[in-house]
Amino acid sequence: MTEIILKNIFKSYDKTEVIHGVDLKVESGKFLVLVGPSGCGKSTLLRIIAGLERITSGEILIEGKEVSNIPASERGLAMVFQSYALYPHMSVFKNMAFSLENLKVDKKTIQEKVNSAAKLLQIEEYLQRKPKALSGGQRQRVAIGRAIVRDPKAFLFDEPLSNLDAELRVTMRKELSALHEKIGGTMIYVTHDQVEAMTLADQIVVLNEGYVAQTGAPLDLYNNPKDTFVAGFIGSPKMNFMNIKSIKKGNEIILNSECFSIKWQEDIEADQDYTLGVRPEYIYICEKQDSDFEVTVDYSEQLGSETYFYCNTVGISQLIVHQTGQYKVSKGDKLFLRLDRSSMHLFGTNGKSIKKNKT
Ligand SMILES: Nc1ncnc2c1ncn2[C@@H]1O[C@H](COP(=O)(O)OP(=O)(O)OP(=O)(O)O)[C@@H](O)[C@H]1O
Ligand SMILES: [Mg+2]
Repeated sequence: MTEIILKNIFKSYDKTEVIHGVDLKVESGKFLVLVGPSGCGKSTLLRIIAGLERITSGEILIEGKEVSNIPASERGLAMVFQSYALYPHMSVFKNMAFSLENLKVDKKTIQEKVNSAAKLLQIEEYLQRKPKALSGGQRQRVAIGRAIVRDPKAFLFDEPLSNLDAELRVTMRKELSALHEKIGGTMIYVTHDQVEAMTLADQIVVLNEGYVAQTGAPLDLYNNPKDTFVAGFIGSPKMNFMNIKSIKKGNEIILNSECFSIKWQEDIEADQDYTLGVRPEYIYICEKQDSDFEVTVDYSEQLGSETYFYCNTVGISQLIVHQTGQYKVSKGDKLFLRLDRSSMHLFGTNGKSIKKNKT
């Protein structure tokens, strides 16, 4: 079982610093997912752990041992990339056996390890084929198999499913989750995909421009984002943000926007500017008398089981509403909306979360 710890990691390419003091801890056997916008440093961090990039400063501990100066081949980790990087001229068996042959492992052990990994990944019948005779999903399984046979201390995945079609991604996602349960190894997984992050992770680390924005369990990040960056990044489609001002009315605090006034239950300062955040799934279509405000529909996306409305109103150029079920709505139609009181987030002008509404 392998614990991986990064302490105050800095990384520069020439004079440009791209990782600015990252601390991170992956507990043994846990599945950690790294997410963040393109260019925020996810792959760099993974390559640093693998030993494929040198750090500028900081410490990398694997099983408590500092490995910053230990080459990739001696760290005992296995990395699986988006492009499968299989050897085209070798059979599937050979692709999986190759690293063990290099380590001079005996033939019988290699046979056993490859066969057992192939069985786990359900690719036994393809062992004699060349990679080009496999589908994308099958190739990615071979790449994962190649990692498994080495009994690595931990698995590092860099967007391994992003080349696969939607259906195959779902299948492979479930298989990866099952694989993690079966072999119980420490896994660090980079992805752009919200669903992969939410479903696979024990812990998600959100990176923003080379900094850790927030770390936590998936639902913890969804329910309690620290700031507008994490709030806007976790969840799809993203959280709606609205500019509001707090007004004191008797003993109550009212949040005022150009188009609505809502009571706020927490004790906050009056006469301040705030950003109110409400996720698309916590805005409901209702009758006028129950509504907070009225919007005009710009367009809607009908997915059959659910519908997304893109709307505008006074002071809000785009508000996204997510409803389950089907709605007959056209561009220009008016809708009355109510914001779910228990799921409203309030952020200060610095973007930091103030508090969630109580009721
Ligand atoms: N070899 C390199 N030389 C110089 N700059 C680099 C190098 N590799 C990465 N970078 C820069 O470091 C930053 C982080 O890159 P990285 O590949 O880690 O991003 P990422 O989060 O994996 O992005 P994506 O989601 O697009 O894969 C980027 O600004 C990138 O341009
Ligand atoms: Mg990357």
